[in-house]
Amino acid sequence: MSDASGRADVDVDLRGVEDFTANPYPYYEKLRAAGPVHTVRTDEFDRIWLVVGYGEARAALADQRLGKEWRGLMDRPVENQPIFANMLELDAPHHTRLRKLITREFTARRVESLRPRVQQITDELLDAMVPAGRADLVDALAFPLPMTVICELIGVPDLDRRTFRRLTNDIVTPATPLQDGEAVVAMGAYLTELIEDKRCSPGDDLLSALVRARDEEGDGLSPDELVGMAFLLLVAGHETTVNLISNGVRALLRHPDQLAALRADFGLIDGAVEEMLRYDGPVETATFRFAREPVEIGRRVIPAGDPVLVSLAGADRDPGRYPEPDRFDIRRETQGHLAFGHGVHFCLGAPLARMEGRIAIRTLLERCPGLAPDADAGEPDWLPGMLIRGVRALPVRW
Ligand code: HEM
Repeated sequence: MSDASGRADVDVDLRGVEDFTANPYPYYEKLRAAGPVHTVRTDEFDRIWLVVGYGEARAALADQRLGKEWRGLMDRPVENQPIFANMLELDAPHHTRLRKLITREFTARRVESLRPRVQQITDELLDAMVPAGRADLVDALAFPLPMTVICELIGVPDLDRRTFRRLTNDIVTPATPLQDGEAVVAMGAYLTELIEDKRCSPGDDLLSALVRARDEEGDGLSPDELVGMAFLLLVAGHETTVNLISNGVRALLRHPDQLAALRADFGLIDGAVEEMLRYDGPVETATFRFAREPVEIGRRVIPAGDPVLVSLAGADRDPGRYPEPDRFDIRRETQGHLAFGHGVHFCLGAPLARMEGRIAIRTLLERCPGLAPDADAGEPDWLPGMLIRGVRALPVRW
């Protein structure tokens, strides 16, 4: 893990490090042992700050001097596309205004009212899956459940889900920058058309409510802000929860004692899902932040303008916060884990994601008493990049 280039401008060079995508935890551990904050070079970035200690990560996520507005700072030709007019890429006061408008519509009551439908979709997916005796769990359950739920919530009727999945994959985990650019434009065009439909024929859905929403000053969302909001909800709503279900089931299958404990007492499911989030959560690093002024964290000074990544995966395995952090223990105290972030950008969808994860995993175990990894499956195919942690497929049998 030393700086292979011999250049002294980064602490650590992670380019081409074997197995980093498959299992980044030993690398985070080594980094953490050397200090909570480092400069690193990765396959994607020439030089970024990486925060790996729990306390420092929590502080960084809450530090308003680390801003989210990257437009004008990064060399991305697509930066003026409307999908980027979203909360997660904005700071106060723009972020505050958008977050208020959505929080008003995305209430706990609205989320709770989805519970029977989440159970029904899960049951239907398992009805289709169970008779075969084997399946790719991502394709059969982990992807279609959150995708269907978020589409119904937002009011996307006949979405071409395959195309949509390819576009969001290309944006969230791009193989090449060009692929990202094309997907960004196509996604913007798709959502603009959808919003126009909602304006003409509104329904009882979240997107129609957002088209009508007004703040105290009577201001609504601009056309770009509507596209940005729809994009963020659709992408955040399914690119993450799919990996909560698949990483969570993977962790259970790799720890038969924990699986047996959960099967023996499904009352443990809430805690088990929290441990799945802590142990191998779907979001490996939070999205980019930029120092708006020199910021000292972990006795390092991040100069103004520098990009910062907070490793949620690294923080949640900090032994200073979670004893024996590499042990998967569904009964452990997981309070304060950072899988949903922290501070003003704390995940808006956490209650929905938790509900989906708990229902999906519990129902899967109930319906498939002999659930096991498929012995014929090869090595897992991990999603590229450091943002999302998950496998493309999870072959299982029962
Ligand atoms: C297990 C599933 C999920 C995980 C692990 C997750 C994780 C996260 C994290 C870490 C952040 C903060 C990122 C940062 O600060 O850079 C975030 C923000 C956000 N998430 Fe989630 N998320 C999940 C599911 C969802 C769902 C289902 C929705 C929508 C229905 C959603 C909507 C959002 C939104 C809108 C934000 C931005 C909030 C803001 O900027 O104020 N997420 N999520």
